[in-house]
Amino acid sequence: MYKKALITGITGQDGSYLTEFLLKKNYKVHGLVRRVALEDGNHRLWRLRHLLTRITLHPASLESYASLVKLIQKIKPHEVYHLGAQSYVDYSFKDEFSTLNTNINGTHYILSALKEFSPKTKFYFAGSSEMFGKVRQVPQSEKTPFYPRSVYGISKVAGYDLTRNYREAYNMFCCSGILFNHESPRRGFEFVTRKITHAVARIKFGLQNDLRLGNMDAKRDWGHAEDYVEAMWLMLNKKKPNDYVISTGKQYSVRDFAKLAFELVDLDYKKFIKIEKNLYRPSEVRSLLGDCRKAKKELKWKPKYDFKKLVQDMVKADLEFVEKEGY
Ligand code: NAP
Ligand code: GDD
Repeated sequence: MYKKALITGITGQDGSYLTEFLLKKNYKVHGLVRRVALEDGNHRLWRLRHLLTRITLHPASLESYASLVKLIQKIKPHEVYHLGAQSYVDYSFKDEFSTLNTNINGTHYILSALKEFSPKTKFYFAGSSEMFGKVRQVPQSEKTPFYPRSVYGISKVAGYDLTRNYREAYNMFCCSGILFNHESPRRGFEFVTRKITHAVARIKFGLQNDLRLGNMDAKRDWGHAEDYVEAMWLMLNKKKPNDYVISTGKQYSVRDFAKLAFELVDLDYKKFIKIEKNLYRPSEVRSLLGDCRKAKKELKWKPKYDFKKLVQDMVKADLEFVEKEGY
C-alpha cells in the first residue's frame, strides 16, 4: 500500500527536494499551493517543473481553517510536512503582521484540523535555528533555551510550542525539526548564499560589477537542503515522535562563503563587495552552530555535503543558470 503525503510550501526550496525524495519512496505526493501558483505556473512552479506530472497540487490557503479542513478530509494523508511559511527573516521586520498570521495561524489551523478530522496523521513542523537567536549556549541542541531575535523567530517558537503541545495534550504524532540554515541551487535569490553565488556568476559573465551585502561577520551552520529533507522523513518514520536539531556542526561566516564562492571562479571577493548599512538587520542573529548528536544517534542521519561541496554546487549551478538564461 502506498503512503500519501501532503506538503505545504511544496513550491519552495525544501518542498521540491522533499517531493523528489518521497516520490523515490513511492509516496503519492499532494501539495498545498496558493491559487496564484496555478495561475502563473511558469513563474511560480519553477522548482517543481520536472515533477508536475507525478504530483497533485491543491489550491488552498494557510490562512483559512475551512480550506485546510476540506483538504485534509479530501486527502486523508498519512504524513503532513508543514513547510509553508513566510521564511525570509529580513522581511519579517518589514511585515510583522502577515509573518505572524501565516506562520502561527497556519500551523495552528493545520494541527487543529488534523486533531478533528485525521488524528492519526503524522505531522512535521519546520522549526528553525532562528529560534535560538541570541544564543544562550554554544553549540545549540534540543535542550538550549530559545531567544528569538525577529518576528520570524518568534513565530517559529510559537509553532514549535503548538506542535509539542498537540503531541503532549492529544497524543498525536507531531515532530519539530530544528533545522539550521540549508541551501542549494534552488535557494531563493533573497537569501545571502544565493545572492552571492548568483552575483558571482553574473560578475563572471560581465553582467554585474559589484555585490552589495550587509553584515559579513554573521556566522551560520550551513548545510545542503537535499540532506535536510531526508531528516524530515526520518523523524516521521521513527516509532515515537520527538524534536531534533539538524545541522552540520561546522560554522562559517558570510565572508567565508563569499571568499570561497569568488575563488571558485578565480576572482578576489574584496574587489567586488560593497557593504551597505541598510542591509543590516535591526536585531541580528550573529552566530549559530548546531549540535545534532541526537539526530545522528536516533535517526542515523548524516549529511553528505560539507561546506566546500555546497558552495561548489551552488556556484556551478549559477554559472549554468546565467549562461542559459542570460540574467
Ligand atoms: P522557501 O523556499 O521560502 O519556501 C516557502 C514556501 O512557503 C513556499 O512554497 C511558499 O509558497 C510557501 N508560503 C509562504 N507563504 C505562504 C502562504 N501565505 N500560504 C501558503 N504558502 C505559503 O523556504 P524553504 O527554505 O523551503 O523552507 C521551508 C520551511 O523550513 C519554511 O517554513 C522555513 O521557515 C523553514 N526553515 C528553513 C530553513 C532553511 O535554511 N531553508 C531553516 C530552518 C527552517 P509560494 O511559492 O507561493 O510563495
Ligand atoms: N539575505 C541577506 N542579504 N542576508 C545578508 C546579507 C544580504 O545582503 N548580507 C549579510 N547577510 C547576513 C544576514 O544578516 C544574516 O546574518 C545572514 O547573512 C544569513 O541571512 P539569510 O541568508 O537571509 O538567512 P537567515 O539566517 O536570516 O535565515 C535563514 O535560515 C533560517 C535558519 O537559521 C532562512 O532560511 C530562515 O527561513 C531559516 O529559518
